[in-house]
Amino acid sequence: MRRKLVVGNWKMNGSRAVNAALLSGITAGLDGAAADCAVCAPAPYLAQCESALAGTPVAWGAQDLSAHAGGAFTGEVSAAMLADFACKYVIVGHSERRAYHAESNELVAKKAVAALEAGLTPIVCVGETLAEREAGRTGAVVSAQLDAVLALLDDAAAARIVLAYEPVWAIGTGKTATPEMAQEVHAQLRAQLKQKNAADAVQILYGGSMKPDNAKELMAQPDIDGGLIGGAALKAADFLAIIHATR
Ligand code: 13P
Repeated sequence: MRRKLVVGNWKMNGSRAVNAALLSGITAGLDGAAADCAVCAPAPYLAQCESALAGTPVAWGAQDLSAHAGGAFTGEVSAAMLADFACKYVIVGHSERRAYHAESNELVAKKAVAALEAGLTPIVCVGETLAEREAGRTGAVVSAQLDAVLALLDDAAAARIVLAYEPVWAIGTGKTATPEMAQEVHAQLRAQLKQKNAADAVQILYGGSMKPDNAKELMAQPDIDGGLIGGAALKAADFLAIIHATR
């Protein structure tokens, strides 16, 4: 039985003062939580996460990393640096990176490999745009995104990733995929993981306007193992309500 996992993606939000309040609010309200949870913070705040969260049940991680191990790559952050701050997770291939930084399926795959080699768990994001959904291409798009990653991994490595299905049209828009729409894509992704014998191990998260009022229904679907939460992860009460919706 896979454990549920709820991850907050803070995106480019926060400050030392705001983060301190948010993190203490989260840790104070976790009693009885049945799910694993983590926050993915902007890189400058990873040290703050480490000092606030070490010894608590909340893990932390980053939102991106370099595919390179080190050297002359101005502005980039390596997997080893994230590991140095005891990150457990790193998001790779978020649609905002794919759209605004032209990240290809192949680059995302290399980033996933870099994360795994440093002992981090990559949260690999896949998802279709509205135009792709309306053209009936959802299955093909997410399958190509996942295939590029699986092509670089052996079975043991594939079993160590976390996957996140985030329909681009549902991110930050208040439009959520219905539980049935999400489940259909999650089931397809689960079937695709069978080629690496990783279908039972890999947690597949849903992301895109997941909120306290829709989280329970989404996470009750057989192939939805948790959530990757944007806006609602910035309020301790909302993030906690989503974590507790897994009970
Ligand atoms: P929202 O929850 O704000 O829609 O963001 C989802 C997301 O992109 C998480 O990575």
